[in-house]
Amino acid sequence: MREVILADKSGFCFGVNRAYETALEKTNDKNFRTYTLGSLIHNEEAINYLKEKRVEPIGYDEVGKLEKYDEIIIRAQGVTEEIEKKLRGIFNTVVDCTCPFVKKIQNKAREYYEKDYQIVLVGDKNHPEIIGINGWCNSSAFITRDEEDIRLFDKNICILAQTTERKEIWDGIVDKIKEFNKDKEVIAINTICNATTERQAAAKDLAQTTPAVVVIGGKASSNTKKLYEICKEYCSNTQQVSTVKDIRMDLLKDIKTVGVTAGASTPKWIIEDIVNFLKNS
Ligand code: F3S
Repeated sequence: MREVILADKSGFCFGVNRAYETALEKTNDKNFRTYTLGSLIHNEEAINYLKEKRVEPIGYDEVGKLEKYDEIIIRAQGVTEEIEKKLRGIFNTVVDCTCPFVKKIQNKAREYYEKDYQIVLVGDKNHPEIIGINGWCNSSAFITRDEEDIRLFDKNICILAQTTERKEIWDGIVDKIKEFNKDKEVIAINTICNATTERQAAAKDLAQTTPAVVVIGGKASSNTKKLYEICKEYCSNTQQVSTVKDIRMDLLKDIKTVGVTAGASTPKWIIEDIVNFLKNS
């Protein structure tokens, strides 16, 4: 039997758990249909389970076609101010499951934008959380993960981070902005979520001490991608999988101990499935 070591911290974070539990509660009410704007979590099996219970993800372009009495859930990553207003105009009930930590960043972006600061977001410009935050400062943010992009800004600067950003990337960009903009006030509010920091630190420990690592999480999950990057840095035999079906057993041949970690939107049952499979295969 293979030994499987699960990272100290892994799987559902507070914000994702809160959104998912809220959606599960809705499944008890059969009188009307509940939608989620985009997939609530990056996990196909969990989404299919919700669909069976009449809680369905819809895209932005479908929103206008729905009936007035329907209900919608805003997922943990949040949305732009404009989308939130639009949803409130269309739906009788808008259940805002924006994670309170993301809401805090949206509020800071708004506050410093109104004080005429240049907002810099350290994160992925295509990620829904960053698109949402940018929408609270009139889409004026400068968004990057690359120190090479940093330049001289013409105003005071407020720097905020995507909640799942790596600390090294944040530190590098903050230092570079300060170096280039010595004559400006630079306010750097490290908004990397504690759940992210803890999971990334636990993943690093795991990758340093095990000969192979399996990172569980959807391909579209940004925090899973970062866990994979970290593990790969410290353990070359690292693979990312969504379900048991994706596991590459050829990489685990003769490996007696495997480390396992999971992104913040991976349900517990998927982690258990994979751990049991690895132990017994
Ligand atoms: Fe919220 Fe942190 Fe999760 S920001 S959604 S608790 S990773």
